[in-house]
Amino acid sequence: MPSIAAETLDATTSAVAAEARAGLTARPRTLSAWLFYDEEGSRLFEQITELPEYYLTRTERSIFSAHADEILRRAAGDERRTLTLIELGAGTATKTGILLAAAIRQQGKVVYQPVDVSESALAAASENIEANFPDVTVRCQVADYTREPLPLDRLPGLRTLALYIGSSIGNFSPQAAAALLANIRAQLLPGDKLLLGTDLGPGRNKSADTLVAAYDDDAGVTAAFNRNVLTRLNRDLGADFRPESFDHRAVWNADQSRIEMHLASLAKQRVHLPATASAPALAIDFAPGETIHTENSYKFTPDSIDALLKPAGFVIDQSWLDPLHLFAVTLATAV
Ligand code: AVI
Repeated sequence: MPSIAAETLDATTSAVAAEARAGLTARPRTLSAWLFYDEEGSRLFEQITELPEYYLTRTERSIFSAHADEILRRAAGDERRTLTLIELGAGTATKTGILLAAAIRQQGKVVYQPVDVSESALAAASENIEANFPDVTVRCQVADYTREPLPLDRLPGLRTLALYIGSSIGNFSPQAAAALLANIRAQLLPGDKLLLGTDLGPGRNKSADTLVAAYDDDAGVTAAFNRNVLTRLNRDLGADFRPESFDHRAVWNADQSRIEMHLASLAKQRVHLPATASAPALAIDFAPGETIHTENSYKFTPDSIDALLKPAGFVIDQSWLDPLHLFAVTLATAV
């Protein structure tokens, strides 16, 4: 595993401290969802993607399996442009192989540019892709595309196909999602493409209960994922949370069209955050049942996908859905 520079670790810990202090003193109390993804959280998330209740990952993969050639053909357009694929938040790039295989069938060689904050995930991605696809050149970029302008390595003459899959956009507020898509659009040229994966809201084949179960599985993996954020604060900041004294809750908020995850205090309790160089020690009192809101996962409709993309400067070419209409993959053009 590549080593992470000391400055990066310090910057991450400072960001964790700032988020934790601001969120835990706010009412209602919150913790940002990015805090989930330390090493253990990333491992638990990989486990979530294989749970029977968590239909998102396998459904998106089934859409890619059924339609990858058509998606790549539409992305290249009538001019049959050569594409370079950039993946935002690529992680270990497990699903991307299906799209890369279609790109190879279409154009021979492919330059693939995964972008992620995790250097170790990118190392795994490039090892996996290079081992399985000799026709793909991988150019990894470690970057936080949610905060910095997208580090787009433009290749002369090629059309960019930006991949933002896995319903990652759903973890941003509507305002933050709009800003993120506008940032992506600003780095693309007119005619470049975006492939967006979005989970869909309740419908004929999906009840609110199905949605809640996807975020509150029987094996308790999502509960462990949620509580792990407290373990992370203990480790990174020296806090003294007792994660088992918080209950995992997944709630469908129909007004906001989102699943919310919360941690509810099972008792009256006090938690401490030690002083840092720039902030005094903090004591946080939880009443029984008081919650920390840890994640939103927005669910979309064809109309709300359009409403998200249009103001950011994209026009939809086509959406592909699975037969049960659980999940949508949308190709859009930068205009
Ligand atoms: C990463 N993201 C799209 C997941 C989701 O479905 O919102 C994170 C997750 N949280 C709980 N389960 C999965």
